[in-house]
Amino acid sequence: MNALPEEFLFTLLEKNPIAEEFRRCHISLNQCGKGFSCSCPFHSETGKSCFIYPETHNFYCSSCHCGGDVITFLMLMQNFSYEEAIQFLAQRSQLSIPSASPENAFQIQQKRERCFQINKDTANFYYQNLITPSGQAGLNYFRKRKLLPQTIRKYGLGYAPDNWHSLHDYLSRKGYSDEEMILANVCRQGKNGQLYDNFRNRVIFPILDMQRHVIGFGGRVLDDSKPKYLNTSDTPVFDKGNHLFSLPFTENSSVFILAEGYMDVIALYQAGFHNAVATLGTAITPRQARLIAQYAEEVIISYDSDSAGQNAAQKAISHFQEVGLPARVLHMTNAKDPDEFIQNFGKEHFQNLLNHALSVTEFSLNRCQENLDLQTQNGKTTYLRRISLVLAGIGNQTEQDVFIQKKAKELDIRPEILRQAVERSANDQKKFQGKKFFQEIERRFSHISRSESKNTKSEELILAYLMRFPEIISTVMQILQPEQFTIEFHRKLYQLLCQILPDCTKFIPSLLGNSLSIEEMCRTTGIFFDYRDKLNQQALEDCIHNLYLFSAKPTIPEPSGISDNELLQRISNKKKNTHWI
Ligand code: UTP
Ligand code: MN
Repeated sequence: MNALPEEFLFTLLEKNPIAEEFRRCHISLNQCGKGFSCSCPFHSETGKSCFIYPETHNFYCSSCHCGGDVITFLMLMQNFSYEEAIQFLAQRSQLSIPSASPENAFQIQQKRERCFQINKDTANFYYQNLITPSGQAGLNYFRKRKLLPQTIRKYGLGYAPDNWHSLHDYLSRKGYSDEEMILANVCRQGKNGQLYDNFRNRVIFPILDMQRHVIGFGGRVLDDSKPKYLNTSDTPVFDKGNHLFSLPFTENSSVFILAEGYMDVIALYQAGFHNAVATLGTAITPRQARLIAQYAEEVIISYDSDSAGQNAAQKAISHFQEVGLPARVLHMTNAKDPDEFIQNFGKEHFQNLLNHALSVTEFSLNRCQENLDLQTQNGKTTYLRRISLVLAGIGNQTEQDVFIQKKAKELDIRPEILRQAVERSANDQKKFQGKKFFQEIERRFSHISRSESKNTKSEELILAYLMRFPEIISTVMQILQPEQFTIEFHRKLYQLLCQILPDCTKFIPSLLGNSLSIEEMCRTTGIFFDYRDKLNQQALEDCIHNLYLFSAKPTIPEPSGISDNELLQRISNKKKNTHWI
């Protein structure tokens, strides 16, 4: 990603306060001067080493040296890339991301508008088809799936005729170019250069964003042929990992239902459950989990009852745990998915399933039996081991006790025996205690603690000084060459500062975000904060002096008006107390 315009970046940071982001993750903050302190979310601690500085939009943990801005925070917490974090924040605060040149931004926006239009016309075309003779097959299919006319209308469902060109012809008549049709992925280009319709002889499920633009489509075959569903590939308006089917149709509800398929969500809607969503042909992404967490206080995972569905549920649970959204899991028997369940047993029974959805612990315990023969010794031992592992993971002592009693009874063993097994398991798993996620972060940042050498400190202080007083960059640039920094990262940071500071009135580390890895951002933030009380001109001069002593062969550029020698003298012979700033 190109560097973002400064103004946009500052607006983005102001609209997404860093302290808010911590609170969203249920991290409690204590006021501390102009900022806040809290337990660091990136390493296990009971102290309060992590500080939030709203003024510079930063956080920094003085203990694990993890730090950065709200973008870095999301990259760490959600595994976002830099671009994804920017996109996520921009979308949430309803900012459009400017691109490098204004003309480009305009063009991109225009392309998006055209995509929305083409999609809307396409959706209309498919929808209108349902009531024409060539669309009879589609309507019959929906009837067979027990969809009512009002449901078809609500979702704008449609049918793509069994024909290679009918959409292409229709869109051409409406004035769209081939290029635009390809861009929106409603048509594709064949080897002969001719365009053909992407969806043929399929029922169509339009996908809408929160503003109810049509952003893409899912299309299902009418029989058993493969692939069962085709989905729009990513386009300028569609990123399948970033949206959820039916999210704009959900009504105020604290509990969401997450299903696997389009048809499940639609059947649920028709049965009166107006709070169901589904992913768009892929496993749930952290971004989608976060999206649900924005609208709901709890989610009930209602995936297919087969083992693929249950495995997917397990994965979804961990995504919801990461974003702090309580999850339960639907336990469904005698039907493969919610759609089939509702058709067979009705909505009251489904409501009953929701009421009895399993807690994450119950779900995990139930799964312990999978593929085991409990009649064999081997099966029993494995079962006991799996159960102990799950029980050891329960944080709440009382809850753990209840489950130990229950399972011991079921296994017909004394509760103490099971308790011992759970304790052993807890010890074995010690290295997994705390969240695996945090350990991963700790591992990544342990090497950041900086060396204490005099030279390191000197280099850091110079960089810190430049970041706090950008106006001196032109002077320092005349005296210091990047090669005089002995630590490679410092050299890189100095070069970046030389590029950016001359045009900069107020510097914050976020301005370097697109050029730094997460680790580098942490180091930069650390340097930015650690020296803030130690910056004075004398210290800067001392440190530059040190760099001259350390760097083996300083090559000094000739600045305007001052000779090499003169410069060297000024710096090395400080007794003369020449001030060059
Ligand atoms: P399912 O195979 O469970 O289908 O896929 P379904 O939703 O129950 O559909 P029906 O009831 O047979 O009509 C669940 C979801 O996975 C995606 C689709 O989003 C689908 O809704 N999927 C499935 C694909 O994207 N491609 C496929 O080929 C199959
Ligand atoms: Mn189904």
